[in-house]
Amino acid sequence: MDTLWIKEQELPIAAEYLKRGHVVAFPTETVYGLGADATSSQAVKRIYTAKGRPSDNPLIVHIANRLQLEQFVASIPPHAQQLMDHFWPGPLTIIVNVLPHVLASEVTAGLSTVGVRMPDHPLARRLIELVNCPLAAPSANTSGKPSPTTAQHVKDDLDGRVKAIVDGGETGIGLESTIIDITQTPPVVLRPGGISIEALTQCIGEVSVGIGRVTHNDPPQAPGMKYRHYSPQQPVKVIRNTDHWQSVITKLLKKNEKIGILANERCVAQFCEHATATYSLGEAGDIAQASQRLYRGLRALDQSEATIILVEAYAKVGLGQAYMNRLEKASTD
Ligand code: TXA
Ligand code: MG
Repeated sequence: MDTLWIKEQELPIAAEYLKRGHVVAFPTETVYGLGADATSSQAVKRIYTAKGRPSDNPLIVHIANRLQLEQFVASIPPHAQQLMDHFWPGPLTIIVNVLPHVLASEVTAGLSTVGVRMPDHPLARRLIELVNCPLAAPSANTSGKPSPTTAQHVKDDLDGRVKAIVDGGETGIGLESTIIDITQTPPVVLRPGGISIEALTQCIGEVSVGIGRVTHNDPPQAPGMKYRHYSPQQPVKVIRNTDHWQSVITKLLKKNEKIGILANERCVAQFCEHATATYSLGEAGDIAQASQRLYRGLRALDQSEATIILVEAYAKVGLGQAYMNRLEKASTD
């Protein structure tokens, strides 16, 4: 299959493909998604095939307006309502009970709940409006690779496997949405992401953070619970203390490792002479910038000659929780 590269002004072409049951990658404010008509089994199956994703891992449904939500959600509990009012459009996925027989069963992987979000990206919203139905969309990477934050990343992973890629430039947040399950009391954050846990607590009060137990036969409730996620090919090591850079680098050089460094610009400047490749996470201490560049940096260094990638840690507060969650999943130690 030839994969068409679609620019902003050609969006109606992408919409036409989606209406005909094809899969199309599109930008959101978090990462690129791989979209298909959420009401069509045949279309949704194509997502799993393109990604090489296990089909018991449910998909997030993307909507452009609240009317679309009413098609497949019977009632919206007060907590969900408050979260939608406060954070939508935006990087928050809310798990609610789903009406049977509206969405393709492949979207929910047999669960009685569905994850929904209204993306805060003009192209994503316009595309969903043009198609005029909710779009199921996981991140548009090959299963196990870091999520794509540019259209080129999608092409690197999925060229020839998807009908089209809508190019919307670099994504703003760079990490996936926060996932909160409001069918449980108190609501449970299944994945930290673009909306901080502190902000959720401010909005609805107590939330519990964590991931429920998964038995072998249950569909996984959140990414990383059952399947390996976010990993580049090369081993990734997290540097948790600024004072450790020098000693870790010295040790690795003795073992003839070729070092890739993913850290703030000051750190990159300080250690670049020892590195085979570097990628800057931006200004020191700027967690929004670091999050936006994390996946991009991991992909860039993975394509370099480096045999190990060293990555700067951030404090686990605010967006730092999402950053560290992804980084720890990518790391091998
Ligand atoms: O930012 C994002 O959320 C991006 C963009 C494209 O919107 N999407 C994304 O999708 O990260 P994905 O499929 O890579 O991760 C969504 C995760 C799934 O791995 C799944 O475990 C969880 O959401 N999920 C979906 N529906 C669920 C449900 N009903 N109950 C529990 N977890 C669910
Ligand atoms: Mg993903």
